[in-house]
Amino acid sequence: MVTRQFEGKQHASDYQKFRSGPSQEITDLIFSYMEERLSKPYGFAVDAGCGTGQNTRTLAPYFKKVLGIDISEAQIEEARKAPGSPNVTYSACPAEEVPVGDASVDLLTASIAAHWFNIEPFLKEVDRILKPGGCLAIFTFYLSIEVHYKDCTEQMTQVFAEMIDSLVPYEHEKVRHLRNGYKEMYESIPYPDKRRIENILTKTRMPIARLMGFIQTFPMFHIYLETKPEEAKEMIRTAEERCLRLMGTSSGETEVEVWLQNVLVLASKPQ
Ligand SMILES: C[S@@+](CC[C@H](N)C(=O)[O-])C[C@H]1O[C@@H](n2cnc3c(N)ncnc32)[C@H](O)[C@@H]1O
Repeated sequence: MVTRQFEGKQHASDYQKFRSGPSQEITDLIFSYMEERLSKPYGFAVDAGCGTGQNTRTLAPYFKKVLGIDISEAQIEEARKAPGSPNVTYSACPAEEVPVGDASVDLLTASIAAHWFNIEPFLKEVDRILKPGGCLAIFTFYLSIEVHYKDCTEQMTQVFAEMIDSLVPYEHEKVRHLRNGYKEMYESIPYPDKRRIENILTKTRMPIARLMGFIQTFPMFHIYLETKPEEAKEMIRTAEERCLRLMGTSSGETEVEVWLQNVLVLASKPQ
């Protein structure tokens, strides 16, 4: 049974607005791992659970063709609307049944998505579609967010920690994979050549209003919003007000620096 937490059109358009692609650090780690295992030029990449395609599009320059797949039609519709490259296409389908041939894929990525998949059938599908030497790269950020701004970093970070704590009751049980740094998933990968890299720190500058929008893309926030709409909206309003007060500004466009810790799991199918 697949998990569907990203179906709404509004959720998909928020995704397009508030989510960005992977950091350069993560992209560099993936391609240096690949370079040691597969010779160039690379042919085909699949990005599973592509959402609105932020990670899919970053793969375009490295491959002849790239396919982004997602279980949600609404996410795929948004991905298709975004400006893209001619070598990138999208398909609405599950990561456990990718519509591509056996041994045809050089790289399969899943950005902030693999914890939603059914791990066993997904890993079987990975094994079917990867070429010998082909690579799997799954990565995500953790839910601890540091928000840096002048001398109020500690208090700002506390505001976000409280927000995330209040979302815990609405968290799907599969988020445990993300919380445990993809440990179980890493252990389930049957290939001897695999690596789990923790503590990849990414720092991104963004307006505080955008960071509030980013939190609202979390599926657990959507469940909160459906269950207790007024309370959910009030939580965001209060948190934004607290942040602006701490920062001594009235403008949501004031930039903060957001520090996220990420984990990346890499594996390569035996030759
Ligand atoms: C948190 S979003 C990540 C989107 C995007 N990769 C990114 O980096 O922002 C997770 C995505 O995985 C998709 N998803 C969940 N289960 C899936 C499955 N079994 N097969 C394919 N996609 C799935 C959801 O529809 C959603 O778009």
